[in-house]
Amino acid sequence: VSQKIHDLIDCDLVLDKNKLQNVMINFEREIKKGLKKASQAESEVKCFVTYVTKLPQGSETGKFLALDLGGTNFRVLLIHLKGEEDYEFESKIYAIPQSIMLGSGTELFDHIAFCLAEFVRENKVQDEVLPLGFTFSFPCQQNGLTKGLLIKWTKGFNCSDVVNKNVVELLEDAIRKRNDIKILICAILNDTTGTLMSCAWKYNNCKIGVIIGTGTNACYMEKSCKAEFFETNDKVREENVIINTEFGAFGEKGSLNEIITMYDKDVDENSINAGNQLFEKMISGMYMGELVRLVIVRLAEKKLLFNGKISEKLKTRYQFYTKYVSEIEADDENVFMMAREVLNELDIHDATDEDCRIVRYCCEVISRRAAQLVSSALAVLMLRIGDPNITIGVDGSVYRFHPKFHDLMTDTIKEIVPSNYNFKFVLSEDGSGRGAALVAAVASRDIKDKI
Ligand code: BG6
Ligand code: GLC
Repeated sequence: VSQKIHDLIDCDLVLDKNKLQNVMINFEREIKKGLKKASQAESEVKCFVTYVTKLPQGSETGKFLALDLGGTNFRVLLIHLKGEEDYEFESKIYAIPQSIMLGSGTELFDHIAFCLAEFVRENKVQDEVLPLGFTFSFPCQQNGLTKGLLIKWTKGFNCSDVVNKNVVELLEDAIRKRNDIKILICAILNDTTGTLMSCAWKYNNCKIGVIIGTGTNACYMEKSCKAEFFETNDKVREENVIINTEFGAFGEKGSLNEIITMYDKDVDENSINAGNQLFEKMISGMYMGELVRLVIVRLAEKKLLFNGKISEKLKTRYQFYTKYVSEIEADDENVFMMAREVLNELDIHDATDEDCRIVRYCCEVISRRAAQLVSSALAVLMLRIGDPNITIGVDGSVYRFHPKFHDLMTDTIKEIVPSNYNFKFVLSEDGSGRGAALVAAVASRDIKDKI
């Protein structure tokens, strides 16, 4: 693309090594603050203790229910762990209409309980009291496996009267009210934890779980002596505990000011949670397409694209879907098949090859920046863990569907960590449902032991 385009875009959106290093320094500082009692309140990255202390062994057995709420799809699952790394599952996706995502908490949990009851009946397990793991992918402060206070909503959710409440209790109340199913909720967990557990089942050096989907976040194995909020009555203190960093909130108090652009500000100011989740808004799938749209519109306004013509659709917020970014970047070097198709969908019918090339460049710049940012945070976690042989469990639509995200992340991390580090990304098969079952398996064993 032309020098003019580079001049307009690169200074804001292309991050040099120096800037990435500053991101890492700030991120590490926020992680350390988040782990400490004296500084968590002011930290951007909260580092919630998950109370998950052990990785699965692959020998876990039993039947479990799981709920998976907070990603693109709401899922209910019935998982049969058979030991010896064998399992079977049934699952069903249920819709959550936007009116519920933005409605009352009671409506949300009634809806979840309704779907759970229907699923249990359809799978003919209504007469069993099955243990359930609840993957609830929002920031929760936990003081045990079965208590999670919602700190704030993120992504597209904003239900009333849930913040500061114990989400497990809200779900239990909704189930009790129905009076038609019996469920034992054994654990509430974040999707990052579910992902880590589900990968650790096969790869026992999996110590980080990361999501790059609608939202973005990571959890990691920390020495429990470093996690000041980790309180336990157990006589033997576990050596490690999984920390849910909630790194999507990074930048909320200024740590990213050096690199935040006018596009990021625009996305933030027009979101339902302005001022929140600034790192997430620079990275995740909920916002990636919108960032690209804003860059494209600016170029068109400056008459550097489409002869200065901007269609109504292109003017409309969120009409440039994140999946378009993946599609456009999947085209071969000098072929613009998908780019043309996407532009046609946006009512731009006379794009030249050069227009397509510029649109693709905008996609590349935004997705590369996202991959570099998420990698910088992951590199900090890897260096903290200090184990040079590490597997990172990953999930989320951006990682799954973007054609270059995996490679971009691998390349960025290689540049940062020492050369003896031997790391591998592993995609979580079947999402975080099996992870939830594994946490429930360990927890229900503990509950039974105590009875
Ligand atoms: C799914 C997991 O595969 O990925 C969920 O089961 C997770 O727990 C989700 O939240 C994240 O990706 P996305 O793109 O659906 O937000
Ligand atoms: C948001 C949520 C976080 C979740 C992530 C990925 O950042 O706050 O809990 O893990 O999205 O779904």
